[in-house]
Amino acid sequence: MSQEPKTKSIKIVVLILIVILVALTGYLFLENSKKTDQILALNTERDELQISLEKLGFEKTQIENTAEELTKELTLTKETLQETEDDLRHEKNKNDDFEDQIRSISGTVKDLDKLSKTDEELLQKYSRTYFLNENFIPLKLKQIDDKYILPGKKDQYFHGDAIGFLEDLLDAAKRAGHDIKIVSAYRSFDEQQDLKGQYTQVYGSGSNAFSADQGYSEHQLGTTVDLTDESTNGTYQSFGETEAYKWLVDNAYRYGFILSYPENNEFYIYEPWHWRFVGTDLAGDLHRKNAQFYEWDQRKIDEYLIKIFD
Ligand code: DAL
Ligand code: ZN
Repeated sequence: MSQEPKTKSIKIVVLILIVILVALTGYLFLENSKKTDQILALNTERDELQISLEKLGFEKTQIENTAEELTKELTLTKETLQETEDDLRHEKNKNDDFEDQIRSISGTVKDLDKLSKTDEELLQKYSRTYFLNENFIPLKLKQIDDKYILPGKKDQYFHGDAIGFLEDLLDAAKRAGHDIKIVSAYRSFDEQQDLKGQYTQVYGSGSNAFSADQGYSEHQLGTTVDLTDESTNGTYQSFGETEAYKWLVDNAYRYGFILSYPENNEFYIYEPWHWRFVGTDLAGDLHRKNAQFYEWDQRKIDEYLIKIFD
């Protein structure tokens, strides 16, 4: 009997052990299943992440490609813009050149038109050796206001485009205190012939020293005047001693007038009364260079004709 309880106890222990073993196995099996599920879930998650990453990578590549294409397009557009800008600049330069040409042509046309309306004789050097056509009459002649004429003298005429300069000269002289009057202005070919005839009757060939033959007088141009003042009252060399004359020497160039026959000129006696309009440009340049009209080369003088009335 003492053996039986012992066996029974062993049986119980074994049974308990078996139960524990079974329970443990069950537990481990369950744990293992859980772990397996977790691993599967993680794998799935990893796969999904992988796919997402691939998608992202693909999208990134696409974005990069698109950016590259856009950059290329931008570069092309920039180049096209640059070319268009170059074309525009080129066209603008062409237009500017064209405008310059038009301006220059229209300037030339204006100059030619101006010259066609200007007596080409106005700046020629008329003296004993230069002959003015006997038919020459200035294109425009205008009567000079009586107030500028020396009392007792007949009506006088002057070139219509230069008369304003003459009036300005005499007005300015008056403002400066010099009452300068005109003794003689335009003289036609015939008038000069008569005048020279009268002088020749009185002075014989001596008249050649102070009076031009018909066709040789600057007075026929309509741009020349003989001036005097009240004290001198005529074309006398004593006019050269007056304050009025000195004022003319210092100021007449501003109004375009020059003294044709200064002392020791090679054509006539000293004629302080004889003033010729040549335009303010030429008169100014002669004054600045302390030069005389008849000293300059005709070709040089001719360049001033276009602006004689400017
Ligand atoms: N007294 C000048 C020279 C003329 O007769 O034109
Ligand atoms: Zn004169």
